[in-house]
Order: sequence, then C-alpha cells, then structure tokens
Amino acid sequence: MQSRKINISLEIWRQENPEAPGSFQRYSLAGLSADMSFLEMLDVLNERLTLEGQEPVAFDHDCREGICGMCGAVVNGQPHGPEPGTTLCQLHLRHFKDGDHLVIEPFRARAFRIEKDLVVDRSSLDQIIQAGGYVSVNTGGAPDANTIAIPQQTAEQAMDAAACIGCGACVAACPNASAMLFVSARVSQLALLPQGQPERRLRALNMVGSMDELGFGNCSNERECEAACPKGISIRHIARLNREFLKAALF
Ligand code: FES
Repeated sequence: MQSRKINISLEIWRQENPEAPGSFQRYSLAGLSADMSFLEMLDVLNERLTLEGQEPVAFDHDCREGICGMCGAVVNGQPHGPEPGTTLCQLHLRHFKDGDHLVIEPFRARAFRIEKDLVVDRSSLDQIIQAGGYVSVNTGGAPDANTIAIPQQTAEQAMDAAACIGCGACVAACPNASAMLFVSARVSQLALLPQGQPERRLRALNMVGSMDELGFGNCSNERECEAACPKGISIRHIARLNREFLKAALF
C-alpha cells in the first residue's frame, strides 16, 4: 500500500559554531512519506543540501530507537516535538498535516552550549552523574529477583526512575532550565534500592551541588519537565529528591 505523501516547510536554526551568531533558515520538502521518521526527514534535507554543495544540518542521533537519549531538538516550541512520550527519533511525519510549517531549534539552556545548528553540548548532565549518580560499592553477582527483599511497588518506582535516558528535554522545557527532573530520577532510583544506601546522603548533596555549579536553574514547580519527558518521568521524584537533600543536609 502506498504511504500518504506530505509537504513540509521547515525553519531550522543554523549556527556555524558556538561563537557564531545563529539564525533561522527556511527549507521546503515535498512528497515526503508520512511513514518517515522526523530524523529521516532531516536526512532527506541533508542529502539535498549536500548535492547542492551546501552544509548539511548538524543534529545529534544514535540509536534512533528512543533508548540512548542522543537525539533532541525543539519542534514548534516543544522539546522532542508534539507527541507525548516520544523522542524525536521516534516521532513520525504521520503526526503532521500536509503543508505544516515546523520551526526546529536546539535545546536551549545556559548549561547546554550550542555546538553547531541543532547539536548542543549536554556533557554537563554527565558531570552531574559523575558527582554521585552511581554505586561504587561491590554489589556482587546478580541475585535471583525473588531473593531481594524489596517490595514490588518500590522496585517498580525505581525502575520508573531508571527509565530516564538523560536527553535533556526536561532542561529545555523548564523556564528556569533546571535539571531537577533528571537529577531526581537518578537520586530516586538509587535511594529506593539497597545498593544505593551507602552513598545515599552524599549522592543527594553532591548531585544537587554539581547541578547548581554547572548553571542549571531551580525548580519552581512549573511541571513543564514532566510534560516534555519522553519517558514519562514523574515530578514525584523531585519531591523525593527534596526530601533526600533535606535529610542529608540536616544530617
Ligand atoms: S537517537 Fe537514541 S533516543 Fe533518539
């Protein structure tokens, strides 16, 4: 069966390097398959630009399966585009109408430097993880699931938090460019599990401290992060992070 064809006009942020001034450039693409993914659409555009001797649009991607967290751009004001719970690589053109005009720009935050076009440096998120988002105790071999004394509901909550792919959409969506949802997912995940207990207090203090140092803003309960998260991370984890931080600071 022939797939539906659509025409899309694009307005894409082009920026040569971190120091160069950027601007929006307009492009038109005709006869695109509605089954095409958003990134495949950018591939089509880049093929055309390359054939025309122009610089292709730089954008991040890797797995294209919604699991690595590499892709990301703001489409018509929404990080990862208009489909809830969907990464940019899993967004398909069938969700757009023929003739739609899409404005595509990079994730913008003080802690995310624009490297080129839609590519931003999100290594600040890695630095927060390095400050405490890990378990350094020897946890031994993987035991049978039914021998671990954790209530199933708690294990489920930890797994929900572990679904964070660190894409940075929460930061891009937040008016304060806060990384609280990202940090809270990591802190929450490990605070709920026995393996995370030895470093529990230091983790909360160090990760929040690192977040502040790197220039991320504060949470003011806008809930934009939760709405933009492609993995449905709940702001209940932010409440847990606040409790973890307070207890650690008092201790
Ligand atoms: S490219 Fe891996 S999540 Fe999109």
